[in-house]
Amino acid sequence: MIVILIGYMASGKSSLGKLLSKKVNYQFIDLDHYIEEKENRSVSEIFRTEGEIYFRKLESVYLKKIIENSNNLILSVGGGTPCYSGNMDTILKAKNVKSIYLQASLEKLVKRLKRNKSKRPLIAHIETDALLNEFIGKHLFERSQFYEQANIKIATDNKPKKEIVKELVSTLL
Ligand code: S3P
Repeated sequence: MIVILIGYMASGKSSLGKLLSKKVNYQFIDLDHYIEEKENRSVSEIFRTEGEIYFRKLESVYLKKIIENSNNLILSVGGGTPCYSGNMDTILKAKNVKSIYLQASLEKLVKRLKRNKSKRPLIAHIETDALLNEFIGKHLFERSQFYEQANIKIATDNKPKKEIVKELVSTLL
């Protein structure tokens, strides 16, 4: 089985994915890191030098490649992955793939992203808290229609990581 964790930036996809992979003894791949390794440069650099559309093409190509060639894998994708290039359909139609939406509230996401935006090209330039709040609010609203299509949804607000991982494991049984 391949488990794909989806959700907005800073929803915990990578950190929870890593923990989950250890618990169930599956391999773990973070799609952004995978792209960075294959392309030999950071996601920010790809955005800066080639633009977002180029990044979205790479993202879609590598997503398909991983899905086609893996098993017993936890894959955390980027916040935008399900929203472009028909990727959510690819995820939903693939045999052997379970998709899980890690749902966090706007409030929690804004709080985390305020501290953590420099490596995220879509929000790195947003200067004030009010503007960041407005951007994330709209963006999350637009993207939710993709995230909500996941096979399983797990609310993460105010839950310790350990508890979320337990919930994740129980959905795989
Ligand atoms: C993006 C999210 C990032 C990364 C890129 C674009 C997005 O991943 O793929 O900066 O469109 O939401 P994280 O969700 O891991 O931050």
